[in-house]
Amino acid sequence: MKRFRRLRANENIRSLVRETRIDKGDLIYPIFIVEGENIKNPVESMPGVYQYSLDRADEVLQEINNSGIAGILIFGIPKRKDAEASSAYDDNGVTQCAIRYIKEKYPSLLVIADVCLCEYTSHGHCGVVCGGEILNDETLPLLSKMAVSLAKAGADIIAPSDMMDGRVAAIRQALDSNGLINIPILSYSAKFASAYYSPFRDAAQSAPEFGDRKSYQMDYANGKEALREIADDIAEGADMVMVKPALAYLDVVKEASQRFDLPLVAYNVSGEYAMVKAASEKGWIDEKKIVSENMIAIKRAGADIIITYHALDLAKWIDEYYK
Ligand code: PBG
Ligand code: ZN
Repeated sequence: MKRFRRLRANENIRSLVRETRIDKGDLIYPIFIVEGENIKNPVESMPGVYQYSLDRADEVLQEINNSGIAGILIFGIPKRKDAEASSAYDDNGVTQCAIRYIKEKYPSLLVIADVCLCEYTSHGHCGVVCGGEILNDETLPLLSKMAVSLAKAGADIIAPSDMMDGRVAAIRQALDSNGLINIPILSYSAKFASAYYSPFRDAAQSAPEFGDRKSYQMDYANGKEALREIADDIAEGADMVMVKPALAYLDVVKEASQRFDLPLVAYNVSGEYAMVKAASEKGWIDEKKIVSENMIAIKRAGADIIITYHALDLAKWIDEYYK
């Protein structure tokens, strides 16, 4: 008789034949830096996540720096928003100042800068708006300026999340012509229009004032289109690609990992985090076990790197496990 159970008999054997592991070095932790002073605001829909002003951020930055995770994804929240998202590409904007500070104080910490206009526009859309429409080509120069400004401030990786067509090529060209030839682009290539982002929009104060993002983010019914988006971003010069959200899109992660050979990132987004936190606060699930299972699932599907709000907790749990 075939006895599969031989290799499940005890933890030593299970560990020996385990196919998938989470390494702290696979994890990226998103942080929210808000313009102002002495601010540490809990994000209600994301227990354990805070908006920090830069003067209070050392608390979390030190923890990140000592945790052994790969790095951070930074989102800045400006005081003033306008139709042109001017603080997005202001060299003294909240995000630029934060990056400069972080790279100075924690030089070995990898900083990925999200590039999108929605935190900076008064209307909350990811691009330039005219007559109720989100304009594609008019948005590209603003994204390019923003990318250059963030890279000059010290960002190690530029991550466009806006979903305008042609933005990877436009940003690559802008970086190159500013001498920033070695700054990689991590493209949010397959980014779906998802209800799983709503807690993030509280955290980043970036909910659209009218309408939704369906004219630029992808229809969640479309798996093949996601592969076309990824292929196109690679052709435009992306160095890494992303699928977002993660758990409801593991088919896309799997297919992308088999079809493309550059580093694949999955973003375990705010709503995925919020559901786990809410159920575990109620005592209905075991947070540690659920998070471990979810993260392993994302890696098993083929993601190389995971962006997750669980990253700091996970790093601690991994330390405990291997102690
Ligand atoms: C900005 C951006 C969003 C997220 C990352 N970058 C929100 C959105 O597109 O509305 C979502 C992240 C999350 O939910 O954790 N374009
Ligand atoms: Zn956006």
